[in-house]
Amino acid sequence: MLIILYLFSLAICYDDPIHTSIIYGDSDQGYYYVNIFVGEHKQKQSLILDTASSITTFPCVDCKSCGTHIDSFYNYKNSQTHKQVKCDQIIGEKQCDKCLNNRCSFQISYAEGSRLAGYFLQDWLIMGDEFENLNQSDEIVKLEQVLSVIGCTTLETNLFFTQKANGIMGLSPKTNTEFSFPNYIDDLYEKEKGKEFQKMFSICIGRKDGYMTIGQYDFNRHQNNSQYYKVKYNHETDVYKINVNSIKIDNKIIADHNLINLGQGAFIDSGSTLAYGSPKLSEKLTQQFNCQNENCPDLQYLEGLNCYQYIPEKHENFSNFASYFPTYQFELDNNFTFNWKPINYLILAVNTSDRYCFPLAVIPGASRMILGQVWMRNWDIGFNKQTQEILFVENNCSNYKVNHQFTEEDIILLEQQSLKKNNGRRVYKDLNLKEKYNTFSETLYAFVMIVLIIFLYYLFSFLLKLKKKYGKYQTIQEISSQE
Ligand SMILES: *[C@@H]1O[C@H](CO)[C@@H](O)[C@H](O)[C@H]1NC(C)=O
Ligand SMILES: *[C@@H]1O[C@H](CO)[C@@H](O)[C@H](O)[C@H]1NC(C)=O
Ligand SMILES: *[C@@H]1O[C@H](CO)[C@@H](O)[C@H](O)[C@H]1NC(C)=O
Ligand SMILES: *[C@@H]1O[C@H](CO)[C@@H](O)[C@H](O)[C@H]1NC(C)=O
Repeated sequence: MLIILYLFSLAICYDDPIHTSIIYGDSDQGYYYVNIFVGEHKQKQSLILDTASSITTFPCVDCKSCGTHIDSFYNYKNSQTHKQVKCDQIIGEKQCDKCLNNRCSFQISYAEGSRLAGYFLQDWLIMGDEFENLNQSDEIVKLEQVLSVIGCTTLETNLFFTQKANGIMGLSPKTNTEFSFPNYIDDLYEKEKGKEFQKMFSICIGRKDGYMTIGQYDFNRHQNNSQYYKVKYNHETDVYKINVNSIKIDNKIIADHNLINLGQGAFIDSGSTLAYGSPKLSEKLTQQFNCQNENCPDLQYLEGLNCYQYIPEKHENFSNFASYFPTYQFELDNNFTFNWKPINYLILAVNTSDRYCFPLAVIPGASRMILGQVWMRNWDIGFNKQTQEILFVENNCSNYKVNHQFTEEDIILLEQQSLKKNNGRRVYKDLNLKEKYNTFSETLYAFVMIVLIIFLYYLFSFLLKLKKKYGKYQTIQEISSQE
C-alpha cells in the first residue's frame, strides 16, 4: 500500500512539475507575499514578491536589528544542510565580490527608502502548496527541493523592519548573471529543464491574495476561452522593461510613445503598490475622468492622488461605481492591448472606507513609468527568462481555488471594513518620494546656479570683446560712473 502511494506521489511529481503557491496580501497592505520552506525542518518564511530586485533574503536568528514578523527567524543552526557562501565562491554566473568578516556579504537599498544588509548562505528550499504539509523526510520533498543561495538578513531599516512579512524574494531579470546569484527559480529550472518546465514564473494577484506558479502557467486556473498574449522585455535592463506604444481611451491616443518612454521607460514592478509616471504623463492620465451627470462621484485630493467618493445609495454597487471611470488601453507590442480597468485599478484611500483613488502618482527624479500591483491585478502575468518574454492572460486572481470563494463585490466590502489593518507601506512610500524630491530640487538648484555662473562669465567676456571692438563697454561704464 505504502509503495503504491509512494509511486503515486512520484507520478504526480513527474506528470506535473509545475509548482503553484498561494500569494497572500493586498494593495491596501502594500505588498503581496508567498511562503517558502527552508532547510532541514522546512522552516517557513514569508517573502514579498519583487520583480524589480535580485536578492532573496530574510532574517536569521543572529539578527541584532530586525523587526517582528509573521514567522520565526530562520535558525540555520537547526539545519545541518546549510552552508556558508565563501568570499571567493562562484555560484551560477556570479562570483561573490563583497567580503565582510570572512563571509560573502550584501547590502541593498530599495527605491522606497529602506535598506537590508546581511550575508549569504545556501540551504534547501521548497515552495508550492502541495508541499506545505509534508515533512522534509517525505520522498517527494527530497525530490523537489533545491539547494539555493539565500540572504541571512542581519540589519533591517524602515519598512522592512515594520512590515509583517519576513523578507523579500528578488525575481528580477538580473538573477544568475554576473551581478547576482541564481534564485530559487533559476535553480529549479537547472534541475527540471528538459521537461515542460520553463525558466518562468507567473504572478496572478487580485484585490485580495492570488497565486504564483513556477515552471509554466497553471492552465487549469484559466477560463477555457482565455486569450494568451506575449511581448518581449528588454533583457539589457535590471527590470522587466516593456515597450508601451501608446495609451488610449476609446481608441483615442491620450499619451504617445515619447511621453511614456521618457528616461528609463516603463517596467513591471510587483514590489511597488501604486503606478508611477512623469509629472506630464500623470497629468495626462489623471485628467481623463470626464463624468457629467448628477451621480458622478465627487473628486477629492488625498495623498497626492485623485480620489472619488463611493456612495452605495447613489452608485448601487462597486461595479456600477467603477463604470463611471475610463478603461486605459495600453498598446503593447504584437498588437496586444492591455486593458487597465477601473474595477482593478481603483484603490481605497488610506484611512477611508469610501474614497477610491486613481492610483497613478508622480515620480520625481529620473523619468520612468512604474507598473506596480494596481496595474497587475487580475491578469496572470508570466515572466519567461528563457525566451525573454512577458505573457499575459486575463483572470480572476482572487479565486476560490486559492483559499476563498469571494466575488469581487464581497472583496470590496471586506476591503472597506478592514481599513484599520493597513500598516502604511503606501503612506511611507509617498513620504519617501518627497524626501527624494528635496534632493531633486537641490540638484536642480545647483544646476541652475552653475548655468547662471557660466552665463555671467560668457556675458562678461562678450562685453570685454565688445569693448575692444566698439568701445561700447566704455559707454556702459560711463553711464554707471555717472550715477
Ligand atoms: C450592479 O448594479 C447594476 C446597476 O444597477 C446592475 O445592473 C448590476 O447587475 C449590479 N452588479 C452586481 C455585481 O451586483
Ligand atoms: C497588427 O494589426 C494590424 C491591423 O489590424 C496589421 O496590419 C498588422 O500586421 C498587425 N501587426 C502584427 C505585428 O501582428
Ligand atoms: C491614518 O491613520 C493613522 C492612525 O490614526 C495615522 O497615524 C496616519 O497618519 C493616517 N494616515 C493618513 C494618510 O491620514
Ligand atoms: C471573472 O469572474 C466573473 C464572474 O465572477 C466572470 O464573469 C468573468 O468572466 C471572469 N473573468 C475572467 C477573465 O476569468
